[in-house]
Amino acid sequence: MNFYRNVVAIQHPISAERQTAKRHYGVHPYFTRRPFNVVRDYILHYSRPGDRVIDPFGGSGVTAIEAFLENRIGVHNDLNPLANFIASGIAGLAKGNLSDYRDALAAMESACSGILFEIEKSGDDELDRYQKQFRLPKNVVLPANSDVTLLYDLFEPKQLAALAVIREQVARISNKYARNAMLLAFSATLAKLNRTFLSAEGRLASRGGSSIFSIYRYKVAKKPVRLPLWPTFRERAMNVLAAKAEVDQTIEHKRQSSAGWHGEFHAYDRDVLELPQVLGRTADYIFTDPPYGGHIAYLDLSTMWNAWLGILPTPSRAKHEIIVGGDRKHADQAYTERLGSSIRACLDLLKPDRWLSVVFQHWNTSYFQTILTSAADSGADLRAAVPQVGDPIWSMHKKKGSASVLAGELILSFFNTGRAVKYELGQKFDLESELYQLLREMHEPLYGEALFNRIVLRAWHKGAINSLGISKSDFAQMLLDMGWQYDQRSHFWVTTHRARRLI
Ligand SMILES: C[S@@+](CC[C@H](N)C(=O)[O-])C[C@H]1O[C@@H](n2cnc3c(N)ncnc32)[C@H](O)[C@@H]1O
Repeated sequence: MNFYRNVVAIQHPISAERQTAKRHYGVHPYFTRRPFNVVRDYILHYSRPGDRVIDPFGGSGVTAIEAFLENRIGVHNDLNPLANFIASGIAGLAKGNLSDYRDALAAMESACSGILFEIEKSGDDELDRYQKQFRLPKNVVLPANSDVTLLYDLFEPKQLAALAVIREQVARISNKYARNAMLLAFSATLAKLNRTFLSAEGRLASRGGSSIFSIYRYKVAKKPVRLPLWPTFRERAMNVLAAKAEVDQTIEHKRQSSAGWHGEFHAYDRDVLELPQVLGRTADYIFTDPPYGGHIAYLDLSTMWNAWLGILPTPSRAKHEIIVGGDRKHADQAYTERLGSSIRACLDLLKPDRWLSVVFQHWNTSYFQTILTSAADSGADLRAAVPQVGDPIWSMHKKKGSASVLAGELILSFFNTGRAVKYELGQKFDLESELYQLLREMHEPLYGEALFNRIVLRAWHKGAINSLGISKSDFAQMLLDMGWQYDQRSHFWVTTHRARRLI
């Protein structure tokens, strides 16, 4: 009996538990980190222990880390050095002893907490001295849309001096596993000790956030929050220790079970299009989450970390990023073509009779068309499209109440049949009547994205995805014309009396 052929595709959304895994939540921020429990459930469903699970757009490593902890061979890949640093850093917590990690933090505390308290009270002259004494990273140019031009401008002089002190102490830790863990804590501290960090009124200062993760830009806060230097690092380091304890426990639990422990983790830093050459057709399951158009310029936004960690990508590497816009001004057409090629690359990595899950969301229907046609051309049959609504990219824009920003995404699961799958294009699609039909089937409260996803899939199944061509504003206008209203607070679309009559 073929396990993979008999798998019945997951058809229902899985509610996200973002904050329950210490290994992903609180160790180090990254952009659009997928909820670990959703990823883990997909891995458990579509693969078996010992299988090779690959994520070509791995980001912070959720897929490969969960695969590794579930006794699979987790293979992570990302073009962004920061992504690989985080993913390998978290997976690396499986190595070494917790007591060595604790000792390293204690040694750091005695070596630098005093200096950091001194820095807190220092005047400009003394700060100058600290900055000269401890090595700073290269003062690189920030992305063009930043509020400030150079890396150092992102920091108060005290923050710059403190970070240089911490960085140097980390380098002195002799146990290499403990050193890597403290480097992870240092890098996570960067997200908090800089001038983009602000706090919402009435909230605890340390509970604030950085504009890098809310509006995806280096925007210097009008009233930046100055978090205390040593306690901020210490808090990050404690989170890393908690993550280490959790990883150790998970592995120990597996070791004591009848299955034993044989998970593996491997990381690559390739352009996704090069991966088939490097890895061959070795994947038993792929779960991946490609960049969504121009929403997030990953490499640009990672400049602060990549510069401090000394891992800036070379220009020839960075130009392979699959994105619209960014500092390299990648064109929409190039993005679409490379998105299609990346899906084909995934299928070149995947063994026949295996599954591929792709997470995606965008208001541009041609991106969906590219994913679906490239997959079908390469032998992948779409078996499920699950809207993970309520698992949104809750950006600041959304919080400000724009109906057009993304909330929720679609998980498309394909079965690799090994031969091209037939599909049609060019059929007619009566958008208005399809929309009415869907509105009758769907329940309130209604997310615009969920409805949009259903429309896209209906158009695909009816061979009409290329005639859909609807923009997010047309879509919102149609709903308004049908008597629906967008609720700015809840971000749901709600019916009015007029809409009920029309339906
Ligand atoms: C949506 S994110 C993935 C986030 C991930 N699912 C997580 O949970 O953290 C997309 C990733 O694709 C990476 N990327 C962009 N272009 C790439 C390319 N050509 N090859 C490999 N990775 C690329 C970006 O650096 C980014 O980390």
